[in-house]
Amino acid sequence: MSFVYLDGAWLRPEEALIPVGDRGFLLSDGIYEVTPAYRGRFFLMERHRARLLRGMCELRIDADITRVERVHEELLDRNELRDAEISYVYLQITRGVAPRSHAFPTDPVAPTVYAFAREYVRPSLERWNAGFDAITVPDRRWARVDIKTISLLPNVLAQQAAVDAGVKDALLVRDGVALEGAHNNFFAVFGETVVTHPNSNVILPGITRGYVVELARELGLEVEERPIQVEELARADEAFFTGTTTEIRPTVEIDGRPVGSGAVGPVTRRLFAAFIERLERHAAAR
Ligand SMILES: Cc1ncc(COP(=O)(O)O)c(C=O)c1O
Repeated sequence: MSFVYLDGAWLRPEEALIPVGDRGFLLSDGIYEVTPAYRGRFFLMERHRARLLRGMCELRIDADITRVERVHEELLDRNELRDAEISYVYLQITRGVAPRSHAFPTDPVAPTVYAFAREYVRPSLERWNAGFDAITVPDRRWARVDIKTISLLPNVLAQQAAVDAGVKDALLVRDGVALEGAHNNFFAVFGETVVTHPNSNVILPGITRGYVVELARELGLEVEERPIQVEELARADEAFFTGTTTEIRPTVEIDGRPVGSGAVGPVTRRLFAAFIERLERHAAAR
């Protein structure tokens, strides 16, 4: 039996209802965060919390999130996910319910806070070893995608384009630059150099991205945070996406053309092995 959290109440999903005046529903006026847990232990929780707080500041949504960690923990318990290999909590905060107008409500309203937990199943090692494919899709998003807003229509359409093309990921391209995926960050590998777009207003500062950059440096790999031209992909040896529900996903084909040899490469393998080892250690410390 599953339970969700809505404004202080624990409810069955079908009982959790949002008023039609909610600004998230009417105007996409809200923010979200997704935090993973490995065998019931949240991973990089402080970084996810910091990104959430930064987004709330940017959007001037004033919610009390002092109990947010407690809600995360309770979601795992109430949904019997404490022993799941991988699970995650989705948390969404909207500006709240008010008569529809573009500007913020003049009388302060309570933000709407909603959260649910789910299990995530990693692809089998056999599937991972085969690698995944992607297509490039024009980036049609706004100029502040560094804020994790619930306004995701261009991401939805890009991901659907990938589904329609029968591939796994959508690589968003703007002005000839490969920025990130529709719901994950993108890396290309040239020899022993790992390259990803620098954090700025044109990508989401992925928590997994940051962690993988640190991990790559620890493994002695060169890391360059710079724009990746789409034309460069023809010369890339390897490519992969990162994200909370992507982890490290190797891409062996983009727009029907092989990346490097067309097989998962050694740098991606090293990074993934080290990543899994860290997660194991993290989970074991529970
Ligand atoms: C557009 C976009 N880029 C990157 C990411 C990856 O971020 P994280 O590693 O924090 O999950 C996400 C995650 O939802 C995303 O939506």
